[in-house]
Amino acid sequence: MITAYLNGEFLPLDQACVPVMDRGFLFGDGIYEVIPVYGGRLFRLAHHLERLQNSLDAVRITNPLDAAAWESLLTELVQRNPGSDQAVYLQVTRGVGPRRDHAFPDAIRPTVFAMSNPSAEPVDSASIRGITAITLPDSRWQHCNVKAITLLPNVLLRQQAIDAGSVEAILLKDGYAVEGAASNVFIVTNGVLVTPPNGPDLLPGITRDLVVELARANDIPVRETGIPESDLRGADEIWLTSSTREISPVTTLDAQRVGGGEPGPLWKTLIGLFQDYKERVRCGQAG
Ligand code: PDD
Repeated sequence: MITAYLNGEFLPLDQACVPVMDRGFLFGDGIYEVIPVYGGRLFRLAHHLERLQNSLDAVRITNPLDAAAWESLLTELVQRNPGSDQAVYLQVTRGVGPRRDHAFPDAIRPTVFAMSNPSAEPVDSASIRGITAITLPDSRWQHCNVKAITLLPNVLLRQQAIDAGSVEAILLKDGYAVEGAASNVFIVTNGVLVTPPNGPDLLPGITRDLVVELARANDIPVRETGIPESDLRGADEIWLTSSTREISPVTTLDAQRVGGGEPGPLWKTLIGLFQDYKERVRCGQAG
C-alpha cells in the first residue's frame, strides 16, 4: 500500500481525499512536481524545489512550506514507501474555496498533496532499442514553463501519439520543435547536441538541465538554440528527456528512421554519464 501525504498527515493513498470545492478539482488551479528517488535519495531536490517556487510564484500561490520543511516531508514520505527507487509526485493547489468563483478567494489555504510510487524496473541502457515519436502542432498555452496541473492538452497530445502507435509526441510551434508532450527534446547534428533554450515555450526540465551540465563538463559541444523542423527531421540523433524516462533515444519519427535507426553514439555516451551521476546520488556523493 502506498503512503500519501495530505495537508500535514501521512495516510494510506486510498484514504487521501480532497473536497470537491478544491480549486484543483474545479479549475485545475494548481501546480506539481515529479521527483525521482534513487537509493532512497531525492534526485536534484534543490532544482525541483526552485522550479516549484517559480511555478507557485507564476500562479500567485504562496509556498506553504520552506525548503527544509519540503525536504523533511518528502524524505519521510520516501522512507514510508516501499523500494529504494521511487517517483515522488507532489501537488499544491490554491485550496478549497467557499463557492465556485474564478476570482481567488480572500482567505484560502493551499492544499498540499504528495505520494511516492516505486519506479519501474531499472532499464539496462545497453538493451534500449529506441522509441517511436510523431510530430504534432503544439496546442498548449503561453506559459509552458509553469508546471501546472492543467494538463488536458498534454494528455490529448500524448494519447494521439499512443493511438498512432508511438510513445511520445514532439510538439511543433511556429516551425520549431519545442518539447515533447511530457518531455524535453534534444537533437544531435554533426556531433553537436542541440536543445531549445528555456523560456515560456517549454518546461525547464530538471533532466534536460542535467544533460546540458553533463555534456558541458565532458567537453561535448552543446547549443541551447531553436530547432527548426527541418533540423529535427534531418538529425543524426533525437532524444527525449524526463524524470520518469531519463534519456530516451527516438529511432523513428513520423514513420521515418532517425539517423541509422538505432540509438546513436552520443546517446550512448550521455546515458553512461547519466547512470554514473545516478550512482553518485545513490552513494550520497551528488544531489
Ligand atoms: N513531466 N516537458 C513537459 C511538458 C513535462 O511534462 C516534463 C516532465 C518535462 C521533463 O521535465 P523533468 O526532466 O523535470 O521531468 C518536460 C513529468 C515527468 C510528468 O508530468 O509526469
